[in-house]
Amino acid sequence: MSTLVVYFSFDGNTKFIAEKIAETISADVIELNTSKKYPTQGFRKYFWGGKSVIFGEKPKLTNEDIDLSRYETIMIGTPVWAGSYAPPVKSFISQYKIHGKRIALFASHGGNGAEKCFARLKEALPDNQFIGETAYVEPKKSPEESSAKALRWAKGLTL
Ligand SMILES: Cc1cc2nc3c(=O)[nH]c(=O)nc-3n(C[C@H](O)[C@H](O)[C@H](O)COP(=O)(O)O)c2cc1C
Repeated sequence: MSTLVVYFSFDGNTKFIAEKIAETISADVIELNTSKKYPTQGFRKYFWGGKSVIFGEKPKLTNEDIDLSRYETIMIGTPVWAGSYAPPVKSFISQYKIHGKRIALFASHGGNGAEKCFARLKEALPDNQFIGETAYVEPKKSPEESSAKALRWAKGLTL
């Protein structure tokens, strides 16, 4: 049975970590995409993104159907948005009834909210076994340090 790394990334930080993890453990990797476009700059970006979290939005994913039955372990990555996980990850969880999997979580953030984000993800994914979690502060700003941390973490998981 193999491992899937599935993630959403708005500015590339979570993508950076996802790719490092997938490469380290030779996992399949899928980036979640949506047709909904958030503003990419300034205050509007935080306002619309934050609002989307607070209202529990689940933007439609444009990915092809993912066959989760092929995977025993799923690694889910998200940026922290308003102390939680990003709406496309909510869409993923809602669309795929995930249970009986081994799940590892990873997140990028600006300095706070990762623990709350992980707690919320666990709450949203009952009936699964959580095998690890790891968070990174703006990893693209310290690529070497962050990729070394991601590599250590991924290698240390019992997959
Ligand atoms: C809408 C929005 C809300 C955010 N909320 C938080 C937050 O609550 N806590 C935090 O530390 N960073 C917050 N951030 C910053 C991102 O989590 C951080 O920049 C992260 O590295 C972005 O990952 P990405 O490049 O994969 O999108 C927020 C960013 C956006 C766009």
